[in-house]
Amino acid sequence: MANQLDGKIALVTAGGGGIGQATAWLLAERGASVIAADIDAAGLEDTARQCPAPGRLRTIAADATTLVGAEAAVAAATGAFGGLSILVNVVGGSRPGKTIVDLSLEEWDGWVRLNLTSTFLMCKAAIPAMAASGGGSIVNISSGAGVTAMRKNPAYVAAKGGIIALTRALALDHAEQKIRANCIAPGAILTPLMKRNRRQDEIDWMANANLIGRIGIPHDIAAMVAFLSSDDGAFVNGELINVSGGQKSGI
Ligand SMILES: NC(=O)c1ccc[n+]([C@@H]2O[C@H](COP(=O)([O-])OP(=O)(O)OC[C@H]3O[C@@H](n4cnc5c(N)ncnc54)[C@H](O)[C@@H]3O)[C@@H](O)[C@H]2O)c1
Repeated sequence: MANQLDGKIALVTAGGGGIGQATAWLLAERGASVIAADIDAAGLEDTARQCPAPGRLRTIAADATTLVGAEAAVAAATGAFGGLSILVNVVGGSRPGKTIVDLSLEEWDGWVRLNLTSTFLMCKAAIPAMAASGGGSIVNISSGAGVTAMRKNPAYVAAKGGIIALTRALALDHAEQKIRANCIAPGAILTPLMKRNRRQDEIDWMANANLIGRIGIPHDIAAMVAFLSSDDGAFVNGELINVSGGQKSGI
């Protein structure tokens, strides 16, 4: 397991915090050379400082919701390590509380851009570099909300559902370039996003709403990313994988 990703070159968005940070750490620990991209410079410093394999991790401040930012992140990976074989699209988030009636067009556009358009832009920028490197693995982070929906969060639900569909389109279009694309739908994971959006009593409730009986941790998602990105995941393509502790219903 320690050498599971030896020789691979990974780009992880949202690598300055939460699920993206844990993913950058685990991929580096398992042998990949990793670029962690984020808009939060302090978060990236933290990622670099605490990385278990610091020699294999670099960071770049880049906004995944812009083509310029996406291209800069890809150029950082190819420039630092000479190619790109793994892309992990983690950027996303939401703030529940409004139905579609109260949601403004600007808010809708903002959430769709953060979650779905960022995934489009990163894939658009990265796929030529991945193809030139002989192929690889894309893992997109959706959400249980994109599978079973979530109350008062319609833009997030739609965008995360869109990521699942986009993943299948990517798998179809780029199989010939030896690029696999899979999607993870996390359940409730304890991250800064979760702490911003939920009260402690809600987090406690979620911890008991799955079959494992605890809240998810970022490593739970990172471990699935590592598997999908490794040669052990070679026969998994175009799939949606729920990593939720067995949680089956919306929250
Ligand atoms: N935490 C959960 O329970 C949960 C559940 C399901 C899905 N998800 C999804 O997992 C992903 C990560 O969630 P998290 O909980 O770790 O979030 P988080 O808010 O804790 O961390 C997100 C990171 O993304 C960075 N970021 C934000 N906008 C960016 C941009 N435009 N470009 C680059 N970086 C940017 C932030 O600076 C931060 O470091 C999101 O897509 C989220 O929707 C999370």
